[in-house]
Amino acid sequence: EKPGLELAVVSVPSYACQRHTPLLHHNITLTDALSILADNAELGENEGRGVAFRRAAALLKSLPQEVRGAEQLRGLPCLGEHSLRVIKEVLEDGVSHEVETTTHSEQFKAMKALTGIFGVGAKTADRWFREGIHTPSDLQRSGHTLNRAQRAGLQYYDELNLPVTKSEAVAIGQIVESAVHAVLPGAEITLIGGFRRGKQTGHDVDFLITHPDEGREEGLMPKVVSWLEAQGFLLYQKTTGNSYLESKEGPARPASNMDRFERCFSIFRLSTDNEGRENQTGRENQTGRENQTGREIQTGREIQTGREIQTGREIQTGREIQTGREIQTGREIQTGREIQKGREIQTGDGPQTYSPTLTNTDPHTHSDSPHPLPQTLVVVGDHAQKVSWVLGHSQCSGPRSWRAVRVDLVVSPYSQFAFALLGWTGSKLFERELRRWAVHEKAMTLSSHALYDRKRTQYLRASSEEEIFAHLGLEYIPPCDRNA
Ligand code: GTP
Ligand code: MN
Ligand code: MN
Repeated sequence: EKPGLELAVVSVPSYACQRHTPLLHHNITLTDALSILADNAELGENEGRGVAFRRAAALLKSLPQEVRGAEQLRGLPCLGEHSLRVIKEVLEDGVSHEVETTTHSEQFKAMKALTGIFGVGAKTADRWFREGIHTPSDLQRSGHTLNRAQRAGLQYYDELNLPVTKSEAVAIGQIVESAVHAVLPGAEITLIGGFRRGKQTGHDVDFLITHPDEGREEGLMPKVVSWLEAQGFLLYQKTTGNSYLESKEGPARPASNMDRFERCFSIFRLSTDNEGRENQTGRENQTGRENQTGREIQTGREIQTGREIQTGREIQTGREIQTGREIQTGREIQTGREIQKGREIQTGDGPQTYSPTLTNTDPHTHSDSPHPLPQTLVVVGDHAQKVSWVLGHSQCSGPRSWRAVRVDLVVSPYSQFAFALLGWTGSKLFERELRRWAVHEKAMTLSSHALYDRKRTQYLRASSEEEIFAHLGLEYIPPCDRNA
């Protein structure tokens, strides 16, 4: 009657990097509940607690079948007392009281909404929350001085909280390729992050750039950024230089998990209609890049259905699909970001463009009402300017033919490429587990730059991810199974 009792006797290794964790798994209800508690712990800056919930969720994601009863969990690692309690509650009652309380809490909703603004972390969001700022529009009204990232985050709030589709990622990839090849022929561009793990949507698009002739990649990022900027592809960018070489600590003892590659956090302006694509930037004619443009038209097709998408009907339908599902699963506040976290199969055919209309597009608030939210509703008189962030542009001048997309670019020297690739493919928990395994089980230090053997006091070279897993004494886990 209860298939899967044998789970209890199956031995499951305790580090996520020892397990295969596919994108689609059998325990979504349980992992969603745990991930809300993890989010809440992280928003409360209780990292340890957050990791405990994430490890428990990752364990469930790796199981070969659905857990039906708590007795099936006996002997499994990674399940702490608290996580077990939540799992049992969900298995028995369908919901966890703690999860329900959390998702309905004003603080949690506000923290999710505020940290959903690009450039806003938990600390800042908490400070604002305690000042009575609960939503992006509260923030807009508050007159707070915002930094450049936060201003862009507020301006493009809705769009940046809409999942980026795979085809949008491909279109961005072609732009990045054009830019990189224009300034450094022979450079190699690799799609990393969630899309490399097989996700169909993401909160951003991540690329790793290198060149087979070591040294040629030095100083590449500013050139790429200049090219993109000149073509009108960038709405925002912040480039940080390579500080690895100057660092006194050496790679074995990184100051933090932040690595030191040349890196660019950006917001791209991606064209979303066919007509617009012919001159993606509006300046293509000047530069005569017909080839590039032609390719974009072909590959962009799925997402670039042009006018229809902008009619508002499509958009509403999209939202309803999302909303309906959220209601079904009883997780009203989870849109946008949450959807990106492992429910791609359901969202793959979801809305594929931003909403330029005045619908409820706030992804962090209850969607169980068919009525738009107040802050997105009122666009009259004095309010017109104040709610302009909802539209993602400063004038209410009708539909627009592009959307904003978060893009991360990283440049790595060729000799570090395998480490960078492994370190930037994720998932975040998988990476954390790899480093924990290296330190505790192998007396090694792993970073996105290198692997250091502390017993043999030497760096271990690798030109592929497979070699790194081998150095670590781990079975090779392919990207699609790193969705811990
Ligand atoms: P979505 O973007 O939400 O779809 O998921 P994702 O897995 O792509 O997440 P994200 O883009 O945030 O990060 C991609 C990978 O890069 C993850 O494995 C992160 O751990 C890693 N990463 C992000 N920021 C840094 C950083 O500053 N240093 C290093 N070394 N890795 C980072
Ligand atoms: Mn990503
Ligand atoms: Mn990223």
